[in-house]
Parts: sequence; C-alpha cells; structure tokens
Amino acid sequence: MMSTVFSGIQPSGTLTIGNYIGAMSHHVQFQEEHDCFYCIVDQHAITVPQDRLALRKNIRSLAALYLAAGIDPEKSTLFIQSEVPAHSQMAWMMQCVAYIGELERMTQFKDKSAGKEAVSSGLLTYPPLMSADILLYQTELVPVGEDQKQHLELTRNLAERFNRTYNDILTIPEPEIPDVGARIMSLQDPTKKMSKSDANQKGFISMLDEPATIRKKIKSAVTDSEQEIYYDPENKPGIANLLSIYALSSQQAIEDLVEQYKDSSYGTFKADVAEAVVSMLEPIQTRYYELIDSEELDQILDQGAEHANRTANKTLTKAERAMGLGRKRR
Ligand code: AMP
Ligand code: TRP
Repeated sequence: MMSTVFSGIQPSGTLTIGNYIGAMSHHVQFQEEHDCFYCIVDQHAITVPQDRLALRKNIRSLAALYLAAGIDPEKSTLFIQSEVPAHSQMAWMMQCVAYIGELERMTQFKDKSAGKEAVSSGLLTYPPLMSADILLYQTELVPVGEDQKQHLELTRNLAERFNRTYNDILTIPEPEIPDVGARIMSLQDPTKKMSKSDANQKGFISMLDEPATIRKKIKSAVTDSEQEIYYDPENKPGIANLLSIYALSSQQAIEDLVEQYKDSSYGTFKADVAEAVVSMLEPIQTRYYELIDSEELDQILDQGAEHANRTANKTLTKAERAMGLGRKRR
C-alpha cells in the first residue's frame, strides 16, 4: 500500500558512505512505492551555532547529493525547510502542546546541553519542530536512525494529545528503523559507528572523496593480526566491516564474498573493497558535479518548495482552526 513518507536530513557537512548505505539508499528505494517528502532541515541546524556561508553551501550540497544518489523529483518532493513557513508556524503550535518536562527528558537534549553554559532554547524545542515537520504532511512512515526513535515517540504523543484536546486531524506516524546489520563502522575503530564528525578523517569515507583518497583510506583500515577472511563482527570487527561495505557497495552477499576471498591476502581484499566503493560512488559524484552549480537544481528546489507549501498549508489551516487561531473563514 502507498504511504506518505517524510524524512528530514540535517545539512551539516558532507555525508559518509555510512549515511548513504544506512539512510539515503533506503530513501531512494522508498520513492518507488510511496509518496515521499525529503526535507533539508536548515532550521534544525541553527539550534547550534553555524557559519552562514558554510550553512548555505551545505544546504545546496546536500540537495545535489540527494538528487545524485537517485532521488527523482518526479517521484519525491525534495525541499528546504525554511522555504516552507508552515513548519515554523506549526512548530509554535506544537511547542504549546508539548510540556517542558518531556522536552528536558530527551536524551539528545541532555547530551547536547550537558556541561554547556549557553544552550539555545531552540535546542530544547527542537523536537516540536521535528514533530511539525512530520505532522504537516499527514505522514504515515518516518525512516530514521535509532537515535531519533525517542523524538518520534514524542511526536506520536504530541499528535495524540493534539487530537484529543482540539480535533482529531493529525495522522499518527510510525517510525521505520533499518536493521542494525546495515550499520557501517569507522575504518580506524571498527567498534564505533562511521561518522562525519569523526576528528580522524581516515575513519570515514565521504561520498565526495576522490578515488585515490578512498583507496588510501581503505588500505589503512584497521583489521587484525590474523590472515584469514571470514565474517565475525565480535572478534574481527575490521574485516567484518569491510565485508559489509563490500557487500553493500557491490550488492553481493557476504557469504559469497567470504567464499571468493577465503584464500586471499588482506591486501588483495582491501584493494577490491576500495574498487567496489569507488564504482558505487563514481556515478553519484559525476551527477553531483553536474548539478551543484546548475539552474536545474534551483528549479527542482523551487518546485519542491511549492508542492510542500501547498500540502503543508492544508494541515496548518486545519490545525489553526482546531486551536481557534485567527478569524473564522468561510
Ligand atoms: P547522522 O549523520 O548521524 O545524523 O545520520 C543520518 C542518517 O544516516 C541516520 O538515519 C543514520 O542512521 C544514518 N547513518 C549515519 N551513520 C551511519 C553509519 N555509520 N551506518 C549506517 N547508517 C548511518
Ligand atoms: N532530527 C533529525 C536528525 O537529526 C532530522 C529531522 C528533522 C527529521 N525533522 C525530521 C527526521 C522529521 C525525520 C523526520 O537526524
């Protein structure tokens, strides 16, 4: 059955192959079966200080990367959050539905504010903005990582509270969390998730890394002192991670790769993993560079914002009416 899907992505620097394999590739899949809205959440990004030029660049770059990875503007709506004012309007209303206590209990708020002196109030009210994002589109499915599950649970609670208190107009969304099996680990510490915020550049592969850089990073990936290739994430996390990356980049089964490389050296194996990653990224990078400075990118984002505005405003109007804001119309 066709569902409405919504996901938000923060424009905070170049994505890694972990983001691609763990999130973006799923988003691309979803558009074949569902009505998808993908939102670049620049208003979420400013809950922590941002350099304005860097933010501008990251927003555009993320949009180009999404399209390059296969998001088709004929099938999905790709847009920028701040270009659809209904998000901040609805966010205010959701803030009035949310309790301070439940916001203070959010793990992400506690982590990001711990030990800091100047914590923006936006960091606390970030979840009601996320709820607004989702609820405006009458979203049924929200693909997110494990770390966002708590925000989604809150969104469900706020929507139920709104429906009970005012009028039953909001769809209650379900999270769609991919299995942890697809989690890509750091190349330098394979017990840690690969992350773009890793201080060690060698720990992650960015989606825009050049082939030579990819080869170098995979060559220096931490493995173990054995000389045998088999899948054992517990005892051989480095090799297991490279097997996962290889399997997901080349769409082969891990068992088949293990069979194929059982007599190979780590060196040969790593060289082939690198080629698989290079081949996966090559068409994406080519398309990215075509799009990044193009008029076409602006047209797609204009069209996305227009469609998102139209859809979001319907729910916004209903919600305002339910709460009694403004004048009675019609
Ligand atoms: P983040 O960049 O951590 O905000 O994550 C954005 C999305 O990418 C989330 O859905 C994550 O689950 C996914 N993601 C990030 N890093 C990885 C990784 N190393 N492996 C798999 N998925 C990831
Ligand atoms: N909070 C999410 C994150 O940091 C991003 C996000 C904002 C989002 N709005 C959303 C995700 C709505 C899903 C649905 O990753």
